Amino acid sequence: MDASVDQNKTNKNFSLRKSEEAFNAAKNLMPGGVNSPVRAFTSVGGQPIVIDSVKGSRMWDIDGNEYIDYVGSWGPAIIGHADDEVLAALGETMKKGTSFGAPCMLENVLAEMVISAVPSIEMVRFVNSGTEACMGVLRLARAFTGKHKIIKFEGCYHGHADALLVKAGSGVATLGLPDSPGVPKAATSDTLTAQFNDISSIESLFESHKGDIAAVILEPVVGNSGFIVPKPDFLNSIRKITKQNSTLLIFDEVMTGFRLSYGGAQEYFGVTPDLTTLGKIIGGGLPVGAYGGRRDIMEMVAPQGPMYQAGTLSGNPLAMAAGIQTLKRIKKAGTYEYLHEITGELVRGIVEAGRRAGHAMCGGHINGMFGFFFTEGPVYNFADAKKSDAAKFGRFYWGMLEEGVYFAPSQFEAGFTSLAHTSQVIKMTIAAAERVLRRI
Ligand SMILES: Cc1ncc(COP(=O)(O)O)c(C=O)c1O
Repeated sequence: MDASVDQNKTNKNFSLRKSEEAFNAAKNLMPGGVNSPVRAFTSVGGQPIVIDSVKGSRMWDIDGNEYIDYVGSWGPAIIGHADDEVLAALGETMKKGTSFGAPCMLENVLAEMVISAVPSIEMVRFVNSGTEACMGVLRLARAFTGKHKIIKFEGCYHGHADALLVKAGSGVATLGLPDSPGVPKAATSDTLTAQFNDISSIESLFESHKGDIAAVILEPVVGNSGFIVPKPDFLNSIRKITKQNSTLLIFDEVMTGFRLSYGGAQEYFGVTPDLTTLGKIIGGGLPVGAYGGRRDIMEMVAPQGPMYQAGTLSGNPLAMAAGIQTLKRIKKAGTYEYLHEITGELVRGIVEAGRRAGHAMCGGHINGMFGFFFTEGPVYNFADAKKSDAAKFGRFYWGMLEEGVYFAPSQFEAGFTSLAHTSQVIKMTIAAAERVLRRI
């Protein structure tokens, strides 16, 4: 579908001509015109907008359209885009070079910040992406326990490593691929899948694979099937069953880390896993991932131990500097209370406007992470999320884009607010949603 043709347009000045031209050129140069699938707008129809610049809560496309942004580069931009202090720190660091491939002081600083913030982390290894972090942590869990099977949850995404590309939520679901060709059967034969928020589905896997399960990995709050929170005792029950079976519990906090609270979901819910993966916010907008956890487990990692994992650019000074500056800012008192307040106002405003306009809608948030669905709800797992009206979401999506609001171009993605989103910005968004929800 051409973005300029059939998107129920009302804003006569809204033109995406340059974006369309640029994206058409991109399609000949890169698969699907993008370097990460969800960006291609497959699930909302039309073509993506091509971004020129970002600042604070805003972004501008190459046609000059301005948007309030609720994607935040998929999570890192918790203090707002292109923050002046982060840019200054990057400028200072860059004067000394961009990569050393050798130890630097900034690694110590960020490692200390992460260790003191995240309850489960006693030692940490920095990598370059969330995918790498999840791939490394899985190898570590298997090396430490000597067992091979892992349990993941339907609709949870842990990056695109072979073993984890099973029932993996957003990107894969958006494209309608239940799995990916090219993943060898052998790579996923030890991956078992359970239902989020259904403890009996995990119990039966432990029953039928007694003594074989190295680790359970999950997003403690799911962001890759839309936004789904755990039922009150779900995380505690998994903690209990993993302990009973000498299985490691891994929280993938690539999205929730430093997002739900300074200590992540594990601090927010008071459940401490054995290992944790991080990404997004700890790189302040530069490519970073990390995994960490109990010292006795982390000491297995090379060169201290035999579990091999390495990276040319891991711990590079620019990513460390952006991460340090970002964490310094969100550590200040009031960060999460502020995010809670504005995000609650946003979600309530949208869902109530939707219901007033006669749509079945539900939604939720924890501090600066949120989501809403075009279904009555409640949404406890991926199967529930799939009941959301995808066609209606597509119409809502394009209506909001024309109104100058940029949400994630898939209903199976969480949204994010930042410290740069003012109360006025939230009110503008709700007013735009009211207009759009009345006409779709
Ligand atoms: C929970 C979770 N884990 C892992 C990843 C993979 O991270 P990356 O895209 O940095 O490889 C993501 C990406 O969105 C994620 O949301």
